[in-house]
Amino acid sequence: MTHDTMTHAKRLEDEPVHRSRSVEQLIAGKETSDGAGVKLTRVLTQNLQRRLDPFLMLDAFGSDDPDDYIAGFPDHPHRGFETVTYMIAGRMRHRDSAGHEGLLENGGVQWMTAGRGVIHSEIPQQEAGVMEGFQLWLNLPARDKMCAPWYRDFGAGDLPRFGTASGAEVTVIAGASHGVQGAVTRAATEPLYLDLRLADGATFAQALPAEHNAFVYVYRGALRIGDQVVPAQRMAILANAADADGVLVEARGETRALLIAGQPLNEPIAQYGPFVMNTEQEIYQAINDHRNGRLAALAEPTPAMPSGFP
Ligand code: CO
Repeated sequence: MTHDTMTHAKRLEDEPVHRSRSVEQLIAGKETSDGAGVKLTRVLTQNLQRRLDPFLMLDAFGSDDPDDYIAGFPDHPHRGFETVTYMIAGRMRHRDSAGHEGLLENGGVQWMTAGRGVIHSEIPQQEAGVMEGFQLWLNLPARDKMCAPWYRDFGAGDLPRFGTASGAEVTVIAGASHGVQGAVTRAATEPLYLDLRLADGATFAQALPAEHNAFVYVYRGALRIGDQVVPAQRMAILANAADADGVLVEARGETRALLIAGQPLNEPIAQYGPFVMNTEQEIYQAINDHRNGRLAALAEPTPAMPSGFP
């Protein structure tokens, strides 16, 4: 996208970053499939959960072959964390046991707090064309893991955006950047979730608290961070140097990238598939509740739903 198509956006001066974080590690991700056979790349895998606390998973999906995505994600449970799905291209319908339903499409975000339990499905609403996007899992603090489920859909037009004088176009999905408040904020983990579009040579600076864990995922073009070039389809984990006050990136070619950061919870992480709790005991409880039909039954349907809603 050229800057001319974004003339409605505000142009802001860059945040001052005196010393940028460097790249600690480049990660290629792992090809896998999930749901009923959706091909995807698991960029943030389980072995990085501690390093990238409070983030538990990042999946990237992108294909123009319907065989790779058409089966979607039929009914499955979650407990103990939040899922954030960002659709770059394509259409997917969400339904869940808490009575929420929504169509997620081109540039939209769906934010779902599973809390004590949700059973949901995510089914493609297209038979051809490109389906591309990301699903990020954000952990909940121990005290909130059994909270009531929550859900919001944000269309592309609902997401706050701004441009910078140095040529970046920024969508603020969560947190705040350059004084622009994102669609969602969370007090416990202070997640920052930005989608960056940069023309060749454009730069972007983002202030980051030194203790927050942060990473960049490049999905078009390439970024230079310090003396490291981060190519497309790579995640760069950013070092938590005490004297670094943010990150400075520079685009090599037309580039799109996610910048994600958050305050670590520093709590035990116990994961079994779609359940992420603090202890094994809580995982057994989740499995039992799911088997006995109590996982989602604990979630009261919204008052607007007719009685007898599953
Ligand atoms: Co799910």
